[in-house]
Amino acid sequence: MVGNDLKLKPLSSSLGAEVTGVDLGQNISAEIAQKLSLALDQYTVLLFRDQDVSEANQVKLANIFGEPSLRSRPDDIRFEDNEYARAIALVTNIRKDGVPIGSLPDGEMWFHHDGCFIEAPYRATMLYAVQVPDRGGDTQFLNMYRAYELLPTSIKAALKDRTCLRIFDYKTLSEAPDPEMSLEGVRHARHPAVIKHPNNGKTALYINPLLTARIEGLPRNESDQIIKEVCRYIENESLIYAHKWRPCDMVIWDNWGSVHARTDFPADQTRLMRRSIVKGRPLAAA
Ligand SMILES: [Fe+2]
Repeated sequence: MVGNDLKLKPLSSSLGAEVTGVDLGQNISAEIAQKLSLALDQYTVLLFRDQDVSEANQVKLANIFGEPSLRSRPDDIRFEDNEYARAIALVTNIRKDGVPIGSLPDGEMWFHHDGCFIEAPYRATMLYAVQVPDRGGDTQFLNMYRAYELLPTSIKAALKDRTCLRIFDYKTLSEAPDPEMSLEGVRHARHPAVIKHPNNGKTALYINPLLTARIEGLPRNESDQIIKEVCRYIENESLIYAHKWRPCDMVIWDNWGSVHARTDFPADQTRLMRRSIVKGRPLAAA
């Protein structure tokens, strides 16, 4: 029976596991689904190699981890408007008439938590690699439980009981948001600086350089300085698993316990990924 030999092998000393013994192109039993859901809470990043995954398979897989987030309409020209199209977005630099057909087309992207700019941040994101460049375009995952543990006591004290403003301002993918920008019409939310993971109860740092605008209740310069210092501490090789994509990789990550970044890649090479998002819930302070 498919899935009876499910195995988990750590991908790094920090986070992540490769899952073998599961064919994502087939129906997944309730027993295996439960194991995968627990594995995500434990390992934070799950990698499945050499998977032949249709759009329908991908959406079924998302359902294992929670409720897929649906868009109001498919915005990718290659999709029919059906239930799967609304649960899948393209992350790609492919253009039609000069206009990207998906989102986040080019280059480097700083560390961030997907969905930290909404009231109920996403539990998980899934990316399926269709086409990848020869070099670059890696996704780096960083363990935010360990990141919190490694912070100096003085920074932990400065973050205690603090809330941060998060702004979705992807004008550039490698620049911090302006904390004084107008929030009118811009997606934003406030969440604790340090959270208790809703599923496993662990304490995780919940600050990232791309989307964290300010620590509420502190003067601008103090807030800027603490965010900068936190980000300097967390970008630590020992906390990171850098994933080099191969076509037919499926990667699922937990957006509460990790941040991720993308390395630069050649503009003349195609990168095409299918993304699904699993809805989350409001986050409580640790
Ligand atoms: Fe992301």
